[in-house]
Amino acid sequence: MLIQENISLKDYNTFGIDVKAKYFSSVSSVEELIELYQSKSHPNKFILGGGSNMLLTKDIEALVIHLNLKGKRAISNEQGYVLVESMAGENWHDFVLWTIEQNYGGLENLSLIPGNVGTSPIQNIGAYGVELKDTFHSCQALNLRTLELETFSNSDCNFGYRNSIFKTDAKGQYIIVSVVFKLTTEDHNLNTSYGAIASELEIMNVNTPTIREISNAVIAIRQRKLPDPNEIGNSGSFFKNPVIRIEKFQKLKENFAEIPHYPVSSSEVKVPAGWLIEYAGFKGKTFVNYGVHKNQALVLVNYGGASGSDIYKLSQLIQETIKRLFDISLEAEVNIF
Ligand code: EPU
Repeated sequence: MLIQENISLKDYNTFGIDVKAKYFSSVSSVEELIELYQSKSHPNKFILGGGSNMLLTKDIEALVIHLNLKGKRAISNEQGYVLVESMAGENWHDFVLWTIEQNYGGLENLSLIPGNVGTSPIQNIGAYGVELKDTFHSCQALNLRTLELETFSNSDCNFGYRNSIFKTDAKGQYIIVSVVFKLTTEDHNLNTSYGAIASELEIMNVNTPTIREISNAVIAIRQRKLPDPNEIGNSGSFFKNPVIRIEKFQKLKENFAEIPHYPVSSSEVKVPAGWLIEYAGFKGKTFVNYGVHKNQALVLVNYGGASGSDIYKLSQLIQETIKRLFDISLEAEVNIF
C-alpha cells in the first residue's frame, strides 16, 4: 500500500488549511484499512473522512488515513421502504442526490451538507427540521482494538443534538466503514415545518412538494446563506446552539428582549448561537484573510491562506465575548486538532 510523506492536507479539509501530514495513505477497501492497522510501522494514526468538520491548527505528526471507501446500493425492499447502504467515503450530497433520483425519501432536507457519509452519524448531522437519526438504520464500524467489524443499530448510537456514541463513550475506538438508511419508496414523510423551507417553496410556487422540490428549496436556502467550501474555506456551523435553562433564558430576555429561542424540554430552551454572535458584533467581521461569514454568524471562514490557529484564536475570542455578554458558554461543533 502506498504511504506518502509530507503531504499537504489543504485539499482534504473544507476549511482549506494548509498543514502537512507526516505520512499519508488513501484506503479504498476495508481490507486495506485493516492491513494498515495490523502493520506496526506507524503507531500513531489519524482518520480523515470528508474533512468537513475539523479545524487543523498544526501539522499532523501521524499516519493520516484517508477513507476512500466507495459504493452505494439498495440492499432490501419492503412494502413502502428500502434499506440503502453507502460506503463511508461517498460524498454526502452526491449520495443524497442519488437517493432522490431513485425516489427514495428521507434525506432531502439534508441536501448540500458538506462531508462524507461515514462521518454523518458521528455528529448526527441535521438541518431544516430533520436529523440523520430519523432515517439512520445501522452502521458497520471497525473496532480498532479487535480489528473486527461491528454493527451499531440506531439505538446503539445514542444519538443526540450533534452528538452520538462515536463522540462520547466510543470516541476514537471505531471507524465507521458503511451506513444503512431506511428510506421511503412511497408516501414520503415530507418535513416542511421549518419556516425557511415553507417560504422557499412558496417562492417556487409549489403547493404539494416532491422530495426533489424540497431538496431544491434546501439547496437554494443554503446557497444563499452559507458559503460554498469550494470557494470560501469553512466548516459549516463552528459552534453548537447552546441549550440553557428556562430561568436563565427568562433573565436574559429582560436585557435582550429580541433573543430567539426554541423549546427543548419543559426546563430547557435552545438559543441560536448565530444570533448571539451577531449581537456581539462579529457578523461579517474580517481579520486580514479570515473572519465571520457575512450571512451567517455561526460560520467562521478562511478567505485563503489563513492558519488554523488564527481561526482557533478568533473562535476563543467569540466564546469569551459571548460568555461576558450573556453568561453562555459556546461549545465548538467542529473538532479542533
Ligand atoms: N441568526 C441570526 N444571525 C445569524 C445567524 C442566525 O440572528 O447570523 C438567527 C436567525 O435569525 C434565526 C436563528 O438564528 O432566528 C436560526 O438561524 P438558522 O435558521 O440559520 O439556523 P442556525 O440555528 O443558525 C442550524 C444548524 C445548521 C443548519 C440550520 C438549518 C447548528 C449548530 N446549526 O443553524 O447546521 O443548517 O440550523 O436547520 O445546529 C451545520 O451544522 O454546519 C449547519 C450549517
